[in-house]
Parts: sequence; C-alpha cells; structure tokens
Amino acid sequence: MRVTITDIKQMKQRGEKILMLTAYDYVTARMVDEADVPVILVGDSLGMVMLGYDSTIPVTMEDMIHHTKAVVRGAKNALVVGDMPFMTYQISLPDALSNATRFIQEGGAQAVKLEGGEAVAEQVRRLVACGIPVMGHLGLTPQSIHQLGGFKAQGRVATEAGRLLNDALILQEDGAFAIVLECTPAPLSELITSKLTIPTIGIGAGPGCDGQVQVISDVLGLYTDFVPRHAKQYARLAGEMKNAITAYASEVRSLAFPTQEHSITMDSGIIAELKAESNPAVIASEAKQSRAKQS
Ligand code: KIV
Repeated sequence: MRVTITDIKQMKQRGEKILMLTAYDYVTARMVDEADVPVILVGDSLGMVMLGYDSTIPVTMEDMIHHTKAVVRGAKNALVVGDMPFMTYQISLPDALSNATRFIQEGGAQAVKLEGGEAVAEQVRRLVACGIPVMGHLGLTPQSIHQLGGFKAQGRVATEAGRLLNDALILQEDGAFAIVLECTPAPLSELITSKLTIPTIGIGAGPGCDGQVQVISDVLGLYTDFVPRHAKQYARLAGEMKNAITAYASEVRSLAFPTQEHSITMDSGIIAELKAESNPAVIASEAKQSRAKQS
C-alpha cells in the first residue's frame, strides 16, 4: 500500500523518524522504495546532480515531469513528492495550480514541494484547497541563492530565526503536510519542530527534526563536484563506476571482450550458403554492386 500524507503526519505523532531520499530515475527509485524509505522526493537538485547545472534555477517543468514519471514507475510504495521548479508557482496562482496539477496528473506524483514561507502562502492554500498535498521548504532555499548570497546557512540571527518560525507556522496554517528545513541551526530546527503539529524534515538542520532527507547522489557518493558539509557518503560509487568503465574500455581494446560467451551462435551451414555464389540473395546483391560501379 502506498504511503499517504496521513501516514507521514502520524509518524510524527508516534515519534517515528521520517525518512526521505531524492531519486531521479526508475532504477534508483526502485532501490529506495525497496529499502522501505517512505517518501521519495524528485528534487530539483536533479538540475545539479543529474543535468550538470551549477544551480537548480535552470530546471524546467519538462525536466521535472520527465524524471517524476520515471521515479513513479519505480516507486511502488513510497509517497512521491515532485519539486516545483523556479518560477513555476510564484508568478500567479493559475500558474501554480496548473503546474502542480501536471506533477499529479502527468507525472503521477502524490504531492508537490515548493520553496518559501509567507510569500507563497496563497499558493499553498489554493493547491491544498484543490486537493494537492503540499510540502513546504524553508531555510536555505536553493532557488533563491542569488537573493541569499549563495548556499549559506539561514536563521542564525534573531530576525531570520523569528521569520523562519513565523513562516513555518504560516505554512502549517495554510495546510502544508510537512516542511523541509534546510541548513538551519540545530537548536532553531528543534524549536520549530516542537512548535508544529506537522513534521519537519531536515537536511543540514540537525537531529531534532522529525525526519531527515538527503540527496541520493551524495549518499551514494555519485556526485563529486562537491560534497556539502551536511552530507554523508555511505558509498563511493563514482570511483567504482569509473573503474568499471576503464576496465570495459581496456578489454574491448585488447580484444578480451566480447568472447564466445557473450556472442550469439547460429547454424554454420547458413553462413556457408550465404557465402556461396549460387545463393540468389548474394547474386542479386553482387549484380547491384556491379551496376552501381558501372554507372
Ligand atoms: O531538490 C532537492 O533535492 C531538495 C532537497 C535538498 C530537500 O529540495
């Protein structure tokens, strides 16, 4: 049975840690799902870790829908949350509604995530009223890096901390079912978590959140351009993949691959017949080649 937003809210009530991981493709989503991770986020971080951009800003709705569909095909049980890209929900309410609808209807996701607090409160209210579950995202909101002055921790000074708490309460009031807290100081995350009835899911926000989320490429050690301070690599797959690619290239060059074992056999008589001049197909082909040479 697929996890629902009710299950996620009940996990907070039971004090059970909520796990979320990103995934961007079918194979990875299937693995994450089989590991019993209840929430999969198709994060717009895919712009960086899959598409090679230096921020999430260039990511489009088409990119997101394409990857969401693949993840949904691989996730049989997890709640799939689609991350709304930059400026697909801020410009107008109809825009927010039609783009969120695409995630649910075309992409097959069960919820959407959007960045911001009070500034997007109306959008959250409208989407929830229309039956689209919304996950909020506060703190370091990567779509606003130019405004924030880079990928920096948020909420360390009193005004910022107060604003973040206020934003969290507004998102809850407007119907968000959970809130991601990114790069907020641990004591502030803990305070916000204690003030909310909906779960907080932290990334670089300390252990006091109701749940944790990580970017799968960091967890697997696949993305090596940089490793954020809050990330922990549980494997070093980039190195293993490079070794496999180098081994393949070397075996093809040295004729060690493919061998008989990887080849398809057939009745040698057929080949002999094809080689024979009497074969009508061979004769026709040779006649054609000869005509081509003459003309
Ligand atoms: O895009 C993403 O992967 C995210 C997570 C870091 C929360 O927003």
